[in-house]
Amino acid sequence: MAQGVCDTGVPKLVLEAAKQAMDEGLNTYTRYDGLVELRQALAQRMKAFNHMTVDPDTEVTVSAGATGAFHCACMALLEPGDEVILFEPYYGYHLSTIVAVEAVPKFVSLQTPDWCLSLDDLEQAVTDRTKAIVLNSPGNPSGKVFSVEELQAIANIARQHDLFIFTDEMYEYFVHDGCTHVSIASLPDMADRTITISGYSKTFSITGWRIGHAVAAPRWSSVIGAMNDLVYVCAPAPLQYGVAVGIQTLDAVFYQELQRSFQRKRDRFCQVLQELGLSPTIPQGAYYVLADVSRFPGTTGKERAMYLLEKTGVAGVPGEAFFQENKGASYIRFSFAKTDAVVDMACERLQKLKSKNGRQELR
Ligand SMILES: Cc1ncc(COP(=O)(O)O)c(C=O)c1O
Repeated sequence: MAQGVCDTGVPKLVLEAAKQAMDEGLNTYTRYDGLVELRQALAQRMKAFNHMTVDPDTEVTVSAGATGAFHCACMALLEPGDEVILFEPYYGYHLSTIVAVEAVPKFVSLQTPDWCLSLDDLEQAVTDRTKAIVLNSPGNPSGKVFSVEELQAIANIARQHDLFIFTDEMYEYFVHDGCTHVSIASLPDMADRTITISGYSKTFSITGWRIGHAVAAPRWSSVIGAMNDLVYVCAPAPLQYGVAVGIQTLDAVFYQELQRSFQRKRDRFCQVLQELGLSPTIPQGAYYVLADVSRFPGTTGKERAMYLLEKTGVAGVPGEAFFQENKGASYIRFSFAKTDAVVDMACERLQKLKSKNGRQELR
């Protein structure tokens, strides 16, 4: 239950389309910013789902996963010394990428128990060196879905201080409890300053294909595309085609089923965490949960994760991966993007810990 790799199946027609593309000779470089079929499919899908008007010819860069897209965007738009605001808990690649381009991360802690945003904290973090805010909604590892009010408030701050927003919307289709995904670029006057990063690695369970995208206004997109050309040349051609066919063909039922099945997994797994007194904040999106393991023996998240692994065979990621200083010591992140059988097995193992040894075991 550690790494966020989906064990769930790849839609058959996505696989078939990629195979067919290979057989039919789509095996050479694509345009630096991606195959036209994929850029067009993304633009159509983003109009319908994200309420964004996207020009497939000038505003999309298909890259080596959302990771590649984010890295290219950071290389293109950040200068060494620029400050970039990151909400904590954060996704480790966001931090590493900011550091890799020699920008300076500035952390704004989301507040427990349900990872609320303090606007005062955000305002205070802005200086005259701030260049961008990184947003990740639904969030890894918190599962937080930023509310429209929070997004509007962040947008106001970005407008006021002339900041970029880098928004990673990788889990846009994994939104639970009737919440809606809102892309910050769809808010008034935000398209021009927002770099929207996403991809189908998780939605189609193709994390190894390395296809993702960045969407931005043409003047930013051309530089992001140039970085993509420099580093990757292009994303894998036949796999881009497979993703394009998936986006064009899979209908609302596919996305509803995906959401429902992940909400079921979440409910099953989080219920057991609650029974064990690990007080998880129930994630409204994505497929991760941060469990509070401060009652486990040990002083670090790693020691506590090792304790759990040794006792139950259930693995999680130590909280230190998502927080600064020792704030992560109380947390383990679990991913429930597993087959139902694996989620069941993890639940049974965790439950045995409770029934055999009682809660004292966990102190
Ligand atoms: C928030 C977030 N963004 C991006 C990625 C990686 O996406 P990709 O595989 O398309 O690079 C992940 C994977 O865990 C993620 O959690």
